[in-house]
Amino acid sequence: MIERTIVVLGTGGTIAGEAATASDNVGYRAAQRGVAQLLHGVPAVAGLRMASEQVAQIDSKDMDFAVWVPLALRCAHWLARDDVAGIVVTHGTDTMEETAFFLQAVLAPRKPVVLTGAMRPATSLAADGPQNIADALAVAATPGAQGVCVAFAGTLHGAFEVAKVHGYRMDPFASIDAGPIARIEEGQVRSLRPWPAGTSLRAAADLPPPDRWPRVEIVASHAGADGAVVRALLAHGVDGLVVAATGNGTLHHALQAALLQAQAQGVAVRRASRCLEGRVLPAADDQLPHAQGLSPVKARIALLLELMR
Ligand code: SIN
Repeated sequence: MIERTIVVLGTGGTIAGEAATASDNVGYRAAQRGVAQLLHGVPAVAGLRMASEQVAQIDSKDMDFAVWVPLALRCAHWLARDDVAGIVVTHGTDTMEETAFFLQAVLAPRKPVVLTGAMRPATSLAADGPQNIADALAVAATPGAQGVCVAFAGTLHGAFEVAKVHGYRMDPFASIDAGPIARIEEGQVRSLRPWPAGTSLRAAADLPPPDRWPRVEIVASHAGADGAVVRALLAHGVDGLVVAATGNGTLHHALQAALLQAQAQGVAVRRASRCLEGRVLPAADDQLPHAQGLSPVKARIALLLELMR
């Protein structure tokens, strides 16, 4: 019988952070401890082997294509092995929802890929990282689990819906508009809805090198949005624009004029909403396509992958 393995890939974040004192939960440096060190003291899942690999060591505010490409390729490599039951990725919380959506879009895995992190550094009096890793391992070991998800503070969120909604709380993520996939309680995964599924928008192996990705920027509609940012981007050179629109995808008239100009010049434009919940519902006279219910940051990733084709 093949021994089942869970692979833990480290990318940095607060979970790997260190502060000068145990009481400091904000003045720390992220991405100081290696992934193997993070696993010390976390109980192994019975019957499963663990392997770990450091893919990056960054504060996730600095996440970039140069990390995403190797991360996706390492996930694809491990997922292809019969003995690998699932993958856990340790990651900073600030861009975790982007990486989760990106990995789901390029892997659409039939095994679980579980991102986790921490709101407090590893040196904290009450660090949350070890329990979050233990929960993520429990999800990765669950028979039948699949897709990319985020395990955090005892809750499991899907890659499509997950969003960071708080900058300090220990449970900073929410499953916008959908509700969580599961709760993780004492090592048991209590399922609430189906696992994430779908087909990949582009295979990880077909991603271009990081310096050849299209340029897609996010602009926002707001009081006084006069379109100057769009005109500056057009002058600089841009392939796609996602606009964080107001309400149901509405735009300041001056920004709309600039975006229509961009679209007429061949730039792909998508309308997402600034609202945290809900989706932009199409209307008969729409001149700019909506973003299929994606938040602005995820709509940008979808457009990046679309423009690579
Ligand atoms: C980061 O995103 O790398 C730092 C913040 C965090 O992990 O909570």
